[in-house]
Amino acid sequence: MCGIVGYSGIRPAAPILLEGLKRLEYRGYDSAGISVGHEGKLTVVKKKGKIKKLREAVPPKIQGVYGIGHTRWATHGQVNDENAHPHSDQSGNITICHNGIIENFNILKSKLLEEGYIFVSETDSEVIAHLVSKFYDGDLEQAVKTALGLLEGTYGILCMHADEPGRIIGARNGSPLVLGIGEGEMFLASDVTAMMAYTKHVVYIEDGEVVDVTPEGYHTSDLNNRTISKKIQHISWELDEIEKDGYETFMLKEIFEQPRSITRGMRGRLDKENGAAHLGGLNLTSQELLNIERIKIIAAGTSFHAGLVAAHLLESLARIPCTAELASEVRYRNPIVEKNSLYFAVSQSGETADTLYAMRELKRKGARVLGICNVVGSTIARESDGGVYIHSGPEIAVASTKAFTSQLTAFYLFTVIMARMRHLSLKDGMVFVRELGEIPSIIEKVLEKDSEIKILAKKYAGAKDFLFMGRGINYPVALEGALKLKEISYIHAEGYSAAEIKHGPIALINEETPSMFLIPNDELREKTISNMKEIKARKGPVIALAVDGDSEVGDVADDVIYIPRTHDLLYPLVMVVPLQLFSYHCARELGRDVDQPRNLAKSVTVE
Ligand code: G6P
Repeated sequence: MCGIVGYSGIRPAAPILLEGLKRLEYRGYDSAGISVGHEGKLTVVKKKGKIKKLREAVPPKIQGVYGIGHTRWATHGQVNDENAHPHSDQSGNITICHNGIIENFNILKSKLLEEGYIFVSETDSEVIAHLVSKFYDGDLEQAVKTALGLLEGTYGILCMHADEPGRIIGARNGSPLVLGIGEGEMFLASDVTAMMAYTKHVVYIEDGEVVDVTPEGYHTSDLNNRTISKKIQHISWELDEIEKDGYETFMLKEIFEQPRSITRGMRGRLDKENGAAHLGGLNLTSQELLNIERIKIIAAGTSFHAGLVAAHLLESLARIPCTAELASEVRYRNPIVEKNSLYFAVSQSGETADTLYAMRELKRKGARVLGICNVVGSTIARESDGGVYIHSGPEIAVASTKAFTSQLTAFYLFTVIMARMRHLSLKDGMVFVRELGEIPSIIEKVLEKDSEIKILAKKYAGAKDFLFMGRGINYPVALEGALKLKEISYIHAEGYSAAEIKHGPIALINEETPSMFLIPNDELREKTISNMKEIKARKGPVIALAVDGDSEVGDVADDVIYIPRTHDLLYPLVMVVPLQLFSYHCARELGRDVDQPRNLAKSVTVE
């Protein structure tokens, strides 16, 4: 969602800010702007639309070695130039960028209007600029702190004053903010990808903290002016990981990266000899793991689908009751936290507001919540009681692909640990772990089908509606296949349990509504084939995902994508890959912006 960047140093600020904003594009946005300070004056340029338009609008000779920038994803007010950030106070001496939502902005705005302040945008954020102006008497940090004391809601803020050259005040409450430390220059951003080209030394600003930045240094404190000392951390991601590396899009790169990202997630964690696994960050003793009687998973979007697969897996293999629930629903139904239950909050970004707030509510009720996150140092990762980093590497495309298979990998490892403490024998554990270890090379084989899948996508991309059917552990994969197609191609798609179609969805079937059937060679294979025949009898076109050599499926379906055989419980990792490629090629065929689909944001930091 919205992104913020700041720079104070020795180099021209505008190109660095624009470059930083470009790196944050992937989060999703609809307008962008920058403000640069030079010779006691702050210049603001902001534009509705893509960074390219902003870049064209920025005067080529713009001077100034400090500034702030923003990509906006509209919440309050339309998408237009006025509502884009940075916002200024009336004098134009103060500019601010804000991520998050100020919940009491209406009350604050009414008061400011009464006092004669003039607003030029419909945003909640503009109140911050006027409040800082109201309280400013020569010390920007103090004015920002006084203003923040009045705000209710969430924010990641950057603020500058024309009279204090080189100084940027940052503050955080609920929206991420990272400080990057260079030599004689400082960077601020909502996300490390914006500064990785310049520095890998970062300080994560926490909720309630304010950072006062100049080119020479920084000082962190709380709203009551108590100094807070911070640890400098090192980013392990490499710059080439956030570049396309020869691929036409980030999404395609990330789909093809999966054999490596899954391998990374398993490295040092698979114990083939003992048919077991190790996960260092769980922060639970063996006794505590043994005492767990129930597991609950909360997440949103694709991460929720990973949670649904995990719930099935944990029950089947480890025989522990497990459910997955949408985080957005958990928070508001006054959840009951039972003794001996363990929670997982699953989130690629580690910043999703729905998941974070549900996690906090559960923790408030005494739950032990582990995080399954990709972004190191993200809020969910930091606030959880332990967990697993999936080590997928940066995921830039809005539609999640490699993070999904890496989240599943983390759950497979966790399940092996739990299962081996309970019912899984050494022999069966060894078989499972061996087959899990073979998944990356199986996915390599699936990726070789890319051109075949592209031809299929050309054939079906004209469909208005699409159904995805799976059963058992692959039912959530059908949901994920449908979500991928919706997200990036805008074709209406729904996922169903293949058994469920006769209870309603079959009414949708006609010659123009294709169905994608997931048919692994498991105990539900025959029943799923029967469901597929029911669709064919009603003239519905059918594509099937089936296991190599399954000619019976080939006899019924119009088209088949064959995948290699694996363990029954491991098919989700393999089945999802052709679905990702199919959605991808449908979207390309329709000329969609695959990496930044309309209306979507990579990390949704509002409820
Ligand atoms: C957004 C993204 C989805 C993602 C979901 C959860 O809606 O567009 O791709 O699955 O958030 O994100 P998380 O970072 O919590 O996994």
